[in-house]
Amino acid sequence: MEHLDRILIRQAKMVLEFNWTGEYTRPGPRLYPHQWSWDSALISIGYSRYAPERAAQELLHLFRSQWKNGLLPHVVFDPGFSEYFPGIGFWDAHLSPDSPDDHQTSGVVQPPVHATAALELYRRLGEDARPFLTELFPKLAAWHDYLYRERDPEGEGLVYIRHPWESGMDNSPIWDPILLGMQLSPEEIPAYQRADTHIVDPEDRPEMSAYDRYAYLIRLFAGYGYDEAEIRNSSPFLVQNVLFNALLCRAERDLAELARALGEDPTRFEIRAAKTARAMNGKLWDEKHGTYLDYDLRSGTLIRVYAASGYLPLFAGIPDGNQAQSMLRSMEHHGFYPAKSGGICAPSYDMYGYGFSPVQYWRGPVWININWFLLRGFERYGFTEQADHLRATTIRLVRDRGFYEYFNPLTGRGHGSDFFSWTAALLLDVLLEE
Ligand code: SER
Repeated sequence: MEHLDRILIRQAKMVLEFNWTGEYTRPGPRLYPHQWSWDSALISIGYSRYAPERAAQELLHLFRSQWKNGLLPHVVFDPGFSEYFPGIGFWDAHLSPDSPDDHQTSGVVQPPVHATAALELYRRLGEDARPFLTELFPKLAAWHDYLYRERDPEGEGLVYIRHPWESGMDNSPIWDPILLGMQLSPEEIPAYQRADTHIVDPEDRPEMSAYDRYAYLIRLFAGYGYDEAEIRNSSPFLVQNVLFNALLCRAERDLAELARALGEDPTRFEIRAAKTARAMNGKLWDEKHGTYLDYDLRSGTLIRVYAASGYLPLFAGIPDGNQAQSMLRSMEHHGFYPAKSGGICAPSYDMYGYGFSPVQYWRGPVWININWFLLRGFERYGFTEQADHLRATTIRLVRDRGFYEYFNPLTGRGHGSDFFSWTAALLLDVLLEE
């Protein structure tokens, strides 16, 4: 191993150590002081490479706050930190009879990468992972059951998200058409005070008008006591999201493998994964542009806005060989893989797309988790040249610019939170690969 890689590994481990609270790992020191759901799963993938007991602790701590109906909340609050919006009092999760009695959480979810993380740990630890798996397996199954039961009412194999934050890509231009249509009167906009814009440059963060709508949706859900049937009837935001369903499909397959390892029946996970893959290819595939698109259940139309998430089905093995080839051409032709033009891979939104910003959160910057999903997807399909390039770009970006939350695809400059945990964790996964 090269000297520079050894230094980077040490630094990455220090970032995770810095954010470790003794119970879980904060995504970032000040901007994200609580436990976040998909952050923890991705962080656990990094820990699996060198600190397996931490990897297990991270996931078990998160699942202790799972709701009684299986919902896995996107934030588990540490009541000691009040400097975050929306906090415990804004979510009012206690209004749901399903919320946990002894933990404080949000009332939305994030992409389901947890079974994938648990399988990574099993692969590293083998039989030693059995006690951890025995505890986590029923919780993972309840989480996936919740999604297919509550979020897929027509039994299509595609689950819906009901808040932009559930996609993980909070202010992606994908949501613009829906948010534009949400005309709110002043009295419909809840009173609130943001904390994020005091911590990092407001230019890096979502707009005020987007936050008004995020806040409105939260209060709408709380007003219904988080009753899913009521929310389904009234939420203006109800979307079958590519990223969420692709990661769910992969996680279902990974859960099936865990079931086999534990001597449990994998059938229902395998059936659901196959159904989701079929539905994505049937309903969300855009043949003309070689990508997948989100579907707006309210308007009954595909959202024709092109984001990097449209290529994430590669990570789950959803496209066939021909589709995958056309996705690769599409990425290179559009502004997602600007390797030849000197841009930095992979922008989270089309660099030539309307509404692209090189610095604003999910409207264009490079994110290390998206790069990691794409890298593993390229490897899966044998796109070796692209995988090697993406791996080298990602390592160089973090080495030269620091452990930032996201990066400008034109200049490489880091933005958002510094000392960002999943940047460190996923880099470790790549650097410590055997
Ligand atoms: N990513 C969002 C935040 O900024 C919501 O979880 O906190």
